[in-house]
Amino acid sequence: MSKKALITGITGQDGSYLTEFLLKKKYKVHGIVRRVALEDGNHRLWRLRHILKKITLHPASLESYASLVKIITRTKPDEVYHLGAQSYVDYSFKDEFSTLNTNINGTHYILSAIKEFSPKTKFYFAGSSEMFGKVREVPQSEKTPFYPRSVYGISKVAGYDLTRNYREAYNMYCCSGILFNHESPRRGFEFVTRKITHAVARIKFGLQKDLELGNLDAKRDWGHAEDYVRAMWLMLNQRVPKDYVISTGKQFSVKEFAKLAFELVGLDYKKYVKIQKNLYRPSEVRSLLGNCNKARKELNWKPKYNFKELVADMVKADLEFVKKEGY
Ligand code: NAP
Ligand code: GDD
Repeated sequence: MSKKALITGITGQDGSYLTEFLLKKKYKVHGIVRRVALEDGNHRLWRLRHILKKITLHPASLESYASLVKIITRTKPDEVYHLGAQSYVDYSFKDEFSTLNTNINGTHYILSAIKEFSPKTKFYFAGSSEMFGKVREVPQSEKTPFYPRSVYGISKVAGYDLTRNYREAYNMYCCSGILFNHESPRRGFEFVTRKITHAVARIKFGLQKDLELGNLDAKRDWGHAEDYVRAMWLMLNQRVPKDYVISTGKQFSVKEFAKLAFELVGLDYKKYVKIQKNLYRPSEVRSLLGNCNKARKELNWKPKYNFKELVADMVKADLEFVKKEGY
């Protein structure tokens, strides 16, 4: 019999790649969406458009325990991938309260609903390298202490601790993936990589003159989302549930990302990138670099895309996007 997966945040970047991955593995895929997504499907379900007929969507709210209980009870999934979250770090400085509410309570409600109504369900929590924040060690591994620098990071540390505690207290199969930044042509437009590749395409087609960015010196360990969703599934399909860092082990600055993206269309980033001080964050995570030896060894996971291939994939997709959509 085919397995059943339930994904929160199915409309997002990772949700869409994970859905494709699980469908290929013959899973029945269920997703939790906000009600507005069903009302305005054309706009809000764009990442799932090509596979909508193959999945089942349930309207529910991460802020409502009752609505989550209903779906867990009805679907009784083998695996839950909890990806739904206010995921934009910069916005978490502007709306601390709703970020904490959605990210912490949402995680707690799902864990509690699984414990009460479907305790055999395996649970994946989308942890983040933002939890390392002002890093205590280079590179960062599962053993590195956390020092979050944003309310988003704080909410992910709380989710990570809740997940560990449910595993230890109730003997549930729960894991956190501590995923470093991962990008793709399906990345939201507000994140720096997509902001850059979309602007590169618009500048190339004469639709935009320059590109305003904040801290060009921030360094990230950037991978491809397609590689990272594979790791989520691997974590839920082991004998023993554990937490894993997922990263490439290579680090590049925002400046290096921009330089390469502009070069790929024959332009010099220095002529177009303008620094805008109000795009700097009140407390910045300056440098992230992951050590994923544990995942390489125990999950036999490694990324297929390198940095150049990631940037090239995004630039190519945005050239096609701007040409087709005209914006
Ligand atoms: P994303 O594209 O921003 O997707 C976020 C998803 O969460 C969307 O489906 C969104 O639904 C949903 N969501 C947001 N607020 C919600 C709310 N109040 N109620 C219900 N659903 C809500 O994020 P992603 O890049 O796929 O990341 C997936 C998860 O991994 C997130 O938890 C993120 O924090 C975490 N993570 C991401 C990265 C990365 O580099 N991408 C790294 C580490 C961890 P709508 O479509 O309705 O807005
Ligand atoms: N978004 C954005 N926009 N970031 C900029 C800009 C800009 O104009 N200019 C410079 N940056 C810098 C940010 O200050 C940050 O240091 C870096 O680029 C990356 O920013 P984002 O792309 O917004 O990602 P993030 O690292 O803050 O968070 C992402 O990765 C986390 C994992 O480490 C998100 O996907 C989180 O959800 C995820 O947990």
